Amino acid sequence: MLITGGAQQALDLVGRVLIEPGDTVAVEEPGYPPARLLFRSLGARVAGVPVDAEGIDVRAIPGSARIVYVTPSHQFPLGTPMSLARRAALLAWAERRRAVVIEDDYDSEFRFGERPLEPLQSLDRAGRVVYVGSFSKILLPMLRLGFLVAPASLGPALRAARRLSDWHGEVPTQAALARFIDEGLLARHIRRATREYAARHALVAEALAADDRLLPVPSTAGLHLCARLAPDVSVRPAPELAVERLEAYCGDAPAQAGLVLGYGAITKDAIPDGLRLLRSRMSAAPEPANPLP
Ligand SMILES: Cc1ncc(COP(=O)(O)O)c(C=O)c1O
Repeated sequence: MLITGGAQQALDLVGRVLIEPGDTVAVEEPGYPPARLLFRSLGARVAGVPVDAEGIDVRAIPGSARIVYVTPSHQFPLGTPMSLARRAALLAWAERRRAVVIEDDYDSEFRFGERPLEPLQSLDRAGRVVYVGSFSKILLPMLRLGFLVAPASLGPALRAARRLSDWHGEVPTQAALARFIDEGLLARHIRRATREYAARHALVAEALAADDRLLPVPSTAGLHLCARLAPDVSVRPAPELAVERLEAYCGDAPAQAGLVLGYGAITKDAIPDGLRLLRSRMSAAPEPANPLP
């Protein structure tokens, strides 16, 4: 295990160690732009692979891919978990192709429903998975703290890459966090924050489900919800409307129309006004086609 400056440094270290210029790295489509941009900056050819209701479409991963980057516990940005069958298929694929799977588990702590599925890292029997975690969602992105758990064979190269890039990060912050964890304060914070985020999640999820211009993507974890726009529905931007568009997470594939609504940084009381504003900026749903006589 290595402590890193956020998930981003973990991805950077794995990329530096494993990517040769021209290698193919497969990423989810839609997916997390900072990962895609990082792999590209290291000389990789980045291939977007479609995601369906069960997760990444394993059959669509290019045979040339040496690395696959996925967000199984809460697909980013759609929010769906990767099914157990898909996890097994992805691991079998990685073993067959001798590829590496990077599992980015960036916000699995906040769950509002069923028990989480086993991470790929615990299901992996062939040493193909690098697990990446972050404290950005559970605590603060400005802490720049994350970690990776890699197969032992990658340990020396990853430690060498870490030394080359910044030696060891900020030890005082790491020591403070270690104490916070040891004293049980992180677990308490997660319990309390989960209650608060569950209430915000419920408010946003109910509003999305009640609007026939939106097709919410089912999700019971994390700090955002995603909804596709019904055909021909559009949203007029407004300076005070801080929702992300799903298009922003689509790489080279055709853009998908939808919204990504974060509730990590908005109070419960402010959510109804925000949703009212959103509704007022959305065009009307198209009239249903005339029924046949
Ligand atoms: C998919 C994904 N991975 C990782 C992170 C966290 O990255 P970092 O730890 O570098 O702040 C985020 C934060 O938004 C994310 O959405």
